[in-house]
Amino acid sequence: MAVPTIPVMAPRLPDAAALMPYLEEIDANRWYSNFGPLQRRFETRLADHFDLPKDGVACVGNCTVGLMLALLAVAPGRGGYCIMPSYTFVASAHAVLAAGLLPLFVDVDPQSWAVTQAGVVEAMRSADSPVAAVLVVSPFGAPVDIAAWDDFAAQHGVPVVIDAAAGFDGAIAGKSPLVLSFHATKVMGTGEGGAILSRDGAMVRSIAAASNFGFHDSREAKAIGFNGKLSEYNAAVGLASLDAWPATRRTLTRLTRLYAEALNGVGNISPSPGFGAGWVSSTCNVVFDRSVADAAMDALADARIDSRQWWGKGCHRQPAFAGFPHRDLCVTDDLGQRVLGLPFHEALDERDIERIVSAVASAAQR
Ligand SMILES: Cc1ncc(COP(=O)(O)O)c(C=O)c1O
Repeated sequence: MAVPTIPVMAPRLPDAAALMPYLEEIDANRWYSNFGPLQRRFETRLADHFDLPKDGVACVGNCTVGLMLALLAVAPGRGGYCIMPSYTFVASAHAVLAAGLLPLFVDVDPQSWAVTQAGVVEAMRSADSPVAAVLVVSPFGAPVDIAAWDDFAAQHGVPVVIDAAAGFDGAIAGKSPLVLSFHATKVMGTGEGGAILSRDGAMVRSIAAASNFGFHDSREAKAIGFNGKLSEYNAAVGLASLDAWPATRRTLTRLTRLYAEALNGVGNISPSPGFGAGWVSSTCNVVFDRSVADAAMDALADARIDSRQWWGKGCHRQPAFAGFPHRDLCVTDDLGQRVLGLPFHEALDERDIERIVSAVASAAQR
């Protein structure tokens, strides 16, 4: 009998029974969007979860829209460059352009896979036009030192936005807006959705207004905005996902530990920075000691194991962004040849993980 293919991702959101009480509330309220009672309750629970004041969270339709709103809030109508890593998902660069800024791609650190302050300062000094903002990306959910970036923003007078799409578990909110994704593929999902976290309540309120056509307590468009709202149905899924979060986190912690143990001692592969260091995410990325990611993906496919380069070879290699300026990107180019996402979902057991790790270890040796 053929061995079943192991998918790279198998999202699971709360089932119909878990959603039912919330859906019944929506039926009773007949309030379907526009900051309804479920969204407000979801935001309050998120604020408690992240130890933020009540006005520290604004939910939005997805993380990409959240990044646009955050960039518009910190660099309104400024134009100019947004310094950002090329090594990220394309959504980060799309959001920068949609917010009226030009991406200036910089390299990431080979140890952390994130941009460094020194790299950003170097790009600021050599940029041929003004730098309006910096977009820092959490690599595959690894926590970002928000206090250090808040200090950087204050010291250099350049606002910082944190793209922590996959960083729900490791997120700590500071002043600079931090944006989460609640896409179905993330650990805490609403189907489509996202949230902006910040200790600057006034900024969060203005972002919420911008997500509703710039309306704030009236039907006067007081600021530039668009429709970036979360619907009550997505908020219902979010509330049920939060109910399940302690159990989800236990499952993902166990899976992360099993992977970390299986990968430990395999000479030619290492997990992504911080994997297994106390936070969970929805992917498991490994880095090979040689440039074999494409060949390894083919070898794994032959072994009926799906894998994916979640961030491809960097944004600068994508046709849509190839024309934008960049600094030296040798680490990004190197990671693009060496990083691969392995299957990661709650249905995997110890035997699956052994099978995956042994296939990937031998693929690395070819
Ligand atoms: C780094 C990064 N930024 C932004 C996004 C976009 O998130 P969303 O699908 O919620 O718009 C993703 C999606 O995975 C991502 O990985």
